[in-house]
Amino acid sequence: MNISVIGAGQMGNGIAHVFAQNGHSVVLIDLSRENLETALAVIGRNMDRQVAKEKMTAEEKGSALSRISTSTELAEGVRHADLVVEAATELVDLKLRIFKDLDAAAPDQCILATNTSSISITRIAAATGRPEQVIGMHFMNPVPVMRLVEVIRGYDTSDAVTAQIVDLSKAIGKVPVTVNDYAGFVANRILMPMINEAVQTLWQGVGGVEEIDTIMKLGMAHPMGPLQLADFIGLDTCLAIMKVLHEGLGEAKYAPCPLLVQMVTAGKLGVKSGEGFYTYTAGSKDLVVAPAFR
Ligand code: CAA
Repeated sequence: MNISVIGAGQMGNGIAHVFAQNGHSVVLIDLSRENLETALAVIGRNMDRQVAKEKMTAEEKGSALSRISTSTELAEGVRHADLVVEAATELVDLKLRIFKDLDAAAPDQCILATNTSSISITRIAAATGRPEQVIGMHFMNPVPVMRLVEVIRGYDTSDAVTAQIVDLSKAIGKVPVTVNDYAGFVANRILMPMINEAVQTLWQGVGGVEEIDTIMKLGMAHPMGPLQLADFIGLDTCLAIMKVLHEGLGEAKYAPCPLLVQMVTAGKLGVKSGEGFYTYTAGSKDLVVAPAFR
């Protein structure tokens, strides 16, 4: 299949990686040439881990990388696509503009999927003249490792398109789960209130960063505590999703914790900014609690 992936960030490069690894031709599209080069380097490094673990041979890595091309032009990059997966920044207006442009530029039969973590699929589909071919394909981070694809049907998404995306997800080694289009879908409707509650628990002084994360890691067998996971996802993304839940479901229990709002305002976004609940130094895997919480 010819697959175009829009956005060369953390999710976009992981999605391109997995499709290319499974034999598909990928065009990775981003406005910035520099982002595209960084993404290719990250994909190469992540494939190296798989080679080192004997989950892929060096030869397979070479052919997977050769299936990925890049473009800085949306219309050019989707001209031959059978499927587009959009993984741009989580901003409604940006996504609506991209889907309007995609509708004009992509072939008529092309399926338009979005990796949005919480924006309404129905709303995005309404920006196009082909809402029955628009669907949510929500990958989890790190994409090469996490097995779930949350498949979200918009109001008009057809059965045939849903079946194609389910089959494709299985063919790339993922487990698709199909759900309906309400704020946060299922994954983030449940995950984000847990993270928000962890921040609230910290804010109220019930426990410190390490106490909260250790309790959830050892007590519930989560691979990461909720505060470390928030840093990993990005505190700005967590806040944006809580706002979608609060607005979309209209219940006070979804109000973002003031500490989360404060940290995002201060530019403490987690791993990507170097500080959140922990501090991050390039090349080090040590978890050090951020000065504000020591
Ligand atoms: N590409 C390829 N392989 C990778 C990778 C990547 N980007 N990142 C990690 N790996 C591999 C490692 O090579 C390693 O492989 P083996 O099992 O063969 O040894 C394995 O994954 C585990 O990695 P590490 O040993 O480096 O570290 P770890 O054991 O601490 O696991 C983790 C790291 C997989 C991220 C784990 O901590 C984890 O599962 N965390 C929770 C992740 C999670 O909840 N993700 C969902 C976030 S929510 C989301 O994405 C959606 C949203 O809308 C917000």
